[in-house]
Amino acid sequence: MGEGVKSRLPAVTAMAHPNLALVKYWGQRDAARQLPLNASISVNLSGATTTTTVQFDTALEGDEFELNGVPPAPAALARVSAHLQRIRDLAGSTACARVRSRNSFPAGIGIASSAAGFAALTLAGTRAAGLALEARELSALARLGSGSACRSIPDGFAEWLVGSGEDSYAVQLAKPEHWNLQIVTVYFDPQPKAISSLEGHRAAPSSPFFEARLQQLGETLNTVRRAVLERDFGTLGMTVEREALSLHLIAMSSRVAEQPQLSGIYYWQPQTLALIHAVQRWRTEGLEVYFTLDAGPAVHLLVEAANRAALLEAVGGALGELGGQVLVSAPGMGARVVAGG
Ligand code: PMV
Repeated sequence: MGEGVKSRLPAVTAMAHPNLALVKYWGQRDAARQLPLNASISVNLSGATTTTTVQFDTALEGDEFELNGVPPAPAALARVSAHLQRIRDLAGSTACARVRSRNSFPAGIGIASSAAGFAALTLAGTRAAGLALEARELSALARLGSGSACRSIPDGFAEWLVGSGEDSYAVQLAKPEHWNLQIVTVYFDPQPKAISSLEGHRAAPSSPFFEARLQQLGETLNTVRRAVLERDFGTLGMTVEREALSLHLIAMSSRVAEQPQLSGIYYWQPQTLALIHAVQRWRTEGLEVYFTLDAGPAVHLLVEAANRAALLEAVGGALGELGGQVLVSAPGMGARVVAGG
């Protein structure tokens, strides 16, 4: 057998879903180690997937990364390469890797592509390097790639425990089948985000309202955790909606040090606000639906399974005027190997 063949480890493919934060992570205690200031709770979105294949090969002179069939911007390769280096350090390896990743959904619109991406990369990468990490170790490692990626490792509903290092990971709160919640994500033409979530985290403590948010979060976490476990939709929906507004109020009142011309961070687009109004109107008219928003203009609508068709009809009507596309999810699985390994 030739040397090149011997030095190529088998390729491993993993799949992961983006997760939707029900209680948001916003602000970091330690940026280098991706430690959050607060715990957070999420649900995986079954309707969107990232599929990533990793193969280590000593014949490569550098890491290679292809996203949706094309080489991404150098900064994205650098971020992936830094994560591969963490995996190499754990495995005691020096081989570079070829990474191919595909998203079933657009990036940069408020659906957490980096969460799904780093969860899939962590699982495929560690397995391809011959490691067999436990779920908690995988979650803590995924966190170093992108904080919220740690919550895409467990199946279903997850809680990210603050921790202080290796104990900062997400654990499962409930399995996907625990609650057939429906999440209807409405997104608009992808527009490059003016401010990344990284900058948003950094700027958050500059908001005069940030301390108040942190103080309230303990109660919010308890309420959302209990509402998930007891399948209490009304409590979950209203708490999650207010929690999303709290994050966006912090963003709007944050100062971005590098961009002093901005008075605050606005992730919303006009269509975002139009949908927020529509949700409040639909609820008044008897359709029990709630919204939440991550760091982007997409609006995630939560509804019980029995109201899914009614919501899709209402959304269809609204989209006639607003434009936009819809992605429907139920609570999704965690990261899993789908080929190789
Ligand atoms: O993981 P990051 O650094 O992309 O931050 C995610 C931030 C939010 O999506 C807005 C909230 C969250 O908890 O996912």
